[in-house]
Amino acid sequence: TWTMLNIAEEQIERVREQIGDSGLAICGLSGGVDSAVAAAIVQRAIGDRLHCVFVDHGLLREGEAEQVERDFVAATGVNLHVYDARETFLAALAGVTDPEEKRKVIGREFIRAFEAAEVQVLGEAAGSGEKVGFLVQGTLYPDVVESGGGAGTSNIKSHHNVGGLPDDLEFALVEPLRTLFKDEVRLVGEQLGLPADIVWRQPFPGPGLGIRIIGEVTADRLDILRRADAIARQELTRAGLDREIWQMPVVLLADVRSVGVQGDGRTYGHPIVIRPVTSEDAMTADWARLPYEVMERISTRITNEVAEVNRVTVDITSKPPGTIEWE
Ligand code: XMP
Repeated sequence: TWTMLNIAEEQIERVREQIGDSGLAICGLSGGVDSAVAAAIVQRAIGDRLHCVFVDHGLLREGEAEQVERDFVAATGVNLHVYDARETFLAALAGVTDPEEKRKVIGREFIRAFEAAEVQVLGEAAGSGEKVGFLVQGTLYPDVVESGGGAGTSNIKSHHNVGGLPDDLEFALVEPLRTLFKDEVRLVGEQLGLPADIVWRQPFPGPGLGIRIIGEVTADRLDILRRADAIARQELTRAGLDREIWQMPVVLLADVRSVGVQGDGRTYGHPIVIRPVTSEDAMTADWARLPYEVMERISTRITNEVAEVNRVTVDITSKPPGTIEWE
């Protein structure tokens, strides 16, 4: 629509004014819609002076890293630096089972990886004489209101524990989504031609699949969960329920085993929980009454196609008392 075109153009122009004719900007991509749209706007404003960083922590769902590395780049032409931190995250998560501890570890590793990527980008930029001066963030209007943030430009300091950079590097924040609500962000994303899988992605937590494995996170468990989750998402999409369902975490009860019969004999596998919910804002949620046929297809396919899983259960708890995620 005209209005959305105007919003996109207006934000692009504002970013152009804020950043000016020199200096570089850096933007972390998460796989979600906010950072993708923010990056696309800044890319339109300053082109190759924007450097996007994608930290692959190995906790995304099937196909999501490719959506960023291949589809998003193809759609926007952004300058992307991929930082493969999968091994580092797994090593840091070894033996960690407490949910808050997992979040802490993942958050800490994420900052480390992002800063290491920054060093790379800065190092390359030093050769060209450009200085990184701007950090792009996908802050939305509700986040601004919630944090009581006023208008204007804020600066943040990035604390580097890695060599080769000043201790406190100051970035000016670029927040092109600061005045927008989520639905407007999606429309701007469509307007800018971003991949539909990114634009319409349901909410997905920053710590990713790490908090959907109940128990320690390992490569094997991630692999099991990723395959089961992909099937559940395919069937939800096939049933045309993607927009009706707010989100549907798929959870692996990795430390629980139960007996089953699959194929030729007795199995001793893991249960999967599907947690479809409807919600307006994630503060409260109702368990979703998925059609029986959809539940059946999910259950049959997961137990047929993911050998390690021999039981599929549905979470019928609303929030409160249950949170949407299991951890
Ligand atoms: P809960 O589980 O608290 O989740 O009902 C509410 C919403 O927040 C998401 N969520 C997170 N998002 N980092 C995030 O970025 C987190 O640590 C986190 N934990 C939960 C959850 O997916 C739901 O949309």
